[in-house]
Amino acid sequence: MKQEYEGNLLSPLPVALVGTLVAGRPNYCVVGYAAPFDFGRHIFLSLYKKRYTSQGLHENGTFSVNVPSVDLLREVNICGSKSGREVDKSALFETFYGEVETAPMIRECPLNMECRVTDILDYDPNEGIVGRVVKSYADAELVNGDVVDMQRAGLFVWTIGGDFSYYALGERLVAEGEEKD
Ligand SMILES: Cc1cc2nc3c(=O)[nH]c(=O)nc-3n(C[C@H](O)[C@H](O)[C@H](O)COP(=O)(O)O)c2cc1C
Repeated sequence: MKQEYEGNLLSPLPVALVGTLVAGRPNYCVVGYAAPFDFGRHIFLSLYKKRYTSQGLHENGTFSVNVPSVDLLREVNICGSKSGREVDKSALFETFYGEVETAPMIRECPLNMECRVTDILDYDPNEGIVGRVVKSYADAELVNGDVVDMQRAGLFVWTIGGDFSYYALGERLVAEGEEKD
């Protein structure tokens, strides 16, 4: 039996720490409604216009996406509950820059991408932000050739559907007949 549920249930979702430069200072904010599209060449974000992050994103036309590991849960909680208007969230992390000079990235996050805004969709009171991925970075110890060891990266996801929780990635699943390594 199925029960009808009011609302979207595409769950779990990635946890993105979106970095912007606002008034010259790095700011980081949790965006749970984030997705790669165009087969990964672009990233889509759903962002409320009132976010401090939105200010920096419009100022520079750039942002970063940083994927945190479970050991950053305390910092993630701050980035998802306190606005850069009240708190200097740049102090939580070590910031680094790649090619895009106005897209601050978080050294402590195992995976990072720097993006340039290509489209903004007005869905008042929020906006759909489309960013082209300029370059991606991963912690060197996770990379073997062109493979990033995601299991060792310590990643986690979050859920919607009223559950609103973080869950660590579990074991790697192998289908019957497939090779296990
Ligand atoms: C799990 C989680 C997911 C969130 N997803 C979004 C989101 O998709 N879009 C958004 O605008 N805010 C989202 N937020 C809220 C912002 O992270 C939060 O309001 C933050 O304090 C904004 O920071 P800023 O004002 O410095 O930009 C989310 C928060 C949490 C904890």
